[in-house]
Amino acid sequence: MSLSQLAMSISESPTLKLNALAARLREKGEPVIHLGGGEPKSKAPNDAIVHCKKLLDTGEVRYTPADGIPSLKKAIIQYTQDHYHQVVEPQNIVVSGGAKQALMVLLLAILDPHDEVIFPAPYWVSYPEMVRLASGAPVVVTPQDGSFYPTVGEIESAVTPRTKAILLNSPNNPSGAMYSREFIAGVVDLCEQRDLYLIMDDIYNRLVFDNRTCPLVYDFSKKPPEQSKVVVINGVSKMYAMTGFRIGWAVAPRALAKAMGNIQSQQTSGPSGPSQWAALGALNGDQSGVEELRSALEANRAVILESLRALDRVKVTKPDGTFYCFPDFSAYMADSQELANFLLEKVRVVTVPGKEFGFEGHLRLSYCGSAKDVTEGIARIQWALDPNAGAELAVGNQKLVRDWA
Ligand SMILES: Cc1ncc(COP(=O)(O)O)c(C=O)c1O
Repeated sequence: MSLSQLAMSISESPTLKLNALAARLREKGEPVIHLGGGEPKSKAPNDAIVHCKKLLDTGEVRYTPADGIPSLKKAIIQYTQDHYHQVVEPQNIVVSGGAKQALMVLLLAILDPHDEVIFPAPYWVSYPEMVRLASGAPVVVTPQDGSFYPTVGEIESAVTPRTKAILLNSPNNPSGAMYSREFIAGVVDLCEQRDLYLIMDDIYNRLVFDNRTCPLVYDFSKKPPEQSKVVVINGVSKMYAMTGFRIGWAVAPRALAKAMGNIQSQQTSGPSGPSQWAALGALNGDQSGVEELRSALEANRAVILESLRALDRVKVTKPDGTFYCFPDFSAYMADSQELANFLLEKVRVVTVPGKEFGFEGHLRLSYCGSAKDVTEGIARIQWALDPNAGAELAVGNQKLVRDWA
C-alpha cells in the first residue's frame, strides 16, 4: 500500500485508541475500570436535545454556512461577552467540528512549512500531531523544576525566528494545572512583543476548583482586538458533556477567522447542522448543569486524591481543574507505557501513559467517571503495585491472584 509521508508520520490518537480497547474488553465481559477517559459521564443538557430535535423534526437538514449558523454565532458572541467581557462580531467566530477541528483549521491558516509552535509539557496528546499535520514543527517546553508550571522565561527561550505561535491549555490536560495570572500576562506580553499568535485552548476553563477562576487572555492584551493575535478556542464537549456532538469554536481576528472559514468550507463544508442546533440549545438554555458537573468533578478530585494516598511512593500534584490527575509513578516503574500495560493486563485498569503527553514516569488518571470507579480503580492499582498487599483481590466475580513480585 502506498501512503503519503504525512500519513505514515501521523499516529493514531492514543486516548481514542484506549477508549476502543476498554470498550472491546468490556464487550468480552472483562471487569474493566476506565480511568483513561476524556469525557464527562453526565447527560447532554435537555435544552440541547430539545433544540436539536426541533431541526430534525423539520426533516430539512441541509448544508449550513461553513463557519457556523448565525444564531449559534450570536450565542457564542454572548458567551464571549458573559465569560470573557469581550465584545466580538460574527466575523470573529468560526464554528467547527469540535475544538479539535477549530484548532486544526487555525493551524492550517497560520503555519507555513517548518513554522514552529511552542507549547509546554505535559501537553494534550494531539498537539504535536496536529502541528505536524499542518506542516509545522512542534516545540515542547518542559518546566525545568519538574513541575507542571513553566516560566515565561522558559517559553521565551524557545522562541526562534521560525516561531509562529504559542499554544496554551489551562487548566491543562493532562495535569489539571491552571497557569497563574502572572504567567498568562507574561505570555500575552511576549506574543505581543514578538508578533506571535497566542492560541488559548480554553476547553476546560469552566471546570476549575477551589472557588478560583481561570485568568483570561484578553485581560492582558494591550492591542486592539483586530491587531491582536490572540485566538481563543472553546466548545461544548467538556462543559456541557456533549463530546459526541462535535461542536467547538474559535474567536479570532476577522482576517484570520475568514481564512479559517475558507479552509473549513473546502474541508467539510462546515459542522453538522443538528449538532449546531444542539450547541445553540445548550448555550441559550439552563446553565445549571455546568456548575453541577464542575462541583461533581471537584468532589471526585477529593476522592482520587484521598485514594492515591494509599500509594506512598506516588507523587501527586493537586489538580486545579479539569477531570484529570497526573501523578508521578516513576518510583514504581519508570516506563509509563510499560506501567499502563501492566495495570491493564493484571488488574484491568485503563490509564494513559505520561509518555503520550511528553512527561515520562507519570500516568494520566481521569476522575470523570463515578466515585466508585475511581476508588476501585486506584485500589486495584495499589494492590498491583504494592508487594505487601494480599495475594488475592476480588474483582467483580473474578478472583485475581498475584503472580508477580
Ligand atoms: C486540551 C484539549 N483541547 C481540545 C480538545 C478537543 O475537544 P473537542 O471534543 O471539542 O474536539 C480536547 C479533548 O480532549 C482537549 O483535551
